[in-house]
Amino acid sequence: MRPLLFAANWKMQVTPGETRRFAEQFLGATAPVDGRSLWFFPSAVSMASAADAFGGRADIQIGAQDVHWEPKGAFTGATSIPLARGAGASGALVGHSERRHVFGETDVETGRKVRALLDAGLTAFLCVGEKLEEREAGETEAVVLRQLRAGLAGVAAEGMRRVVVAYEPVWAIGTGRNATAEDAARVHAALRAELSNLGATDRVPVLYGGSVNLGNARGLLAQPEIDGVLVGGASLDPDGWAEIVGIGG
Ligand code: 13P
Repeated sequence: MRPLLFAANWKMQVTPGETRRFAEQFLGATAPVDGRSLWFFPSAVSMASAADAFGGRADIQIGAQDVHWEPKGAFTGATSIPLARGAGASGALVGHSERRHVFGETDVETGRKVRALLDAGLTAFLCVGEKLEEREAGETEAVVLRQLRAGLAGVAAEGMRRVVVAYEPVWAIGTGRNATAEDAARVHAALRAELSNLGATDRVPVLYGGSVNLGNARGLLAQPEIDGVLVGGASLDPDGWAEIVGIGG
């Protein structure tokens, strides 16, 4: 089985207590598998509980859903990289579509966050994805490649080793609509070609996200271009999520 990465983005839900109960059930339903990595992205409030509850399993890592690029200061409501690391995070999502389109995060800001994470030795999960009107205008590749270049501006080959890219078409997130596996694989191939133009020497994992569930995950993961999945809704139930990660072995 080739290496696969399964990432759960819990967004603005799952309290610390619910995190502990989730972990107990999930850990009971799964065992580590060679080559399969599991990441959980709880809210900042539940990160320490997640790190504690999942801590005994070397195949599981915790990440923040967002970080600020400044290490400290007067940024009410924001999470710095040292704070996230202190709570047990070893990586973070950057430029998730909800950060871009609900909170107005720009390409330049995503680039700052990626560089700050890599400088601190953490893993950066750079999310890219086109809106429905951009897809309908035939701009999918142009949009995701622009987001990729901006997010990775100034990142050297060494830093690329701690980058994961997630392709999440905005119109597929939380809507029950998703790209066909072949469609997604085409976009992944374009991203991969650009990653190598940008100096990546090793294979950068490229994940797919957007209404992934037990019914479609197997078909997506059968595409050699798709190295894993980033999942919202279907990662909230421990048994359901255990079944999905079971596709990886
Ligand atoms: P859904 O799986 O709920 O569509 O969310 C996808 C997502 O945004 C993961 O980051």
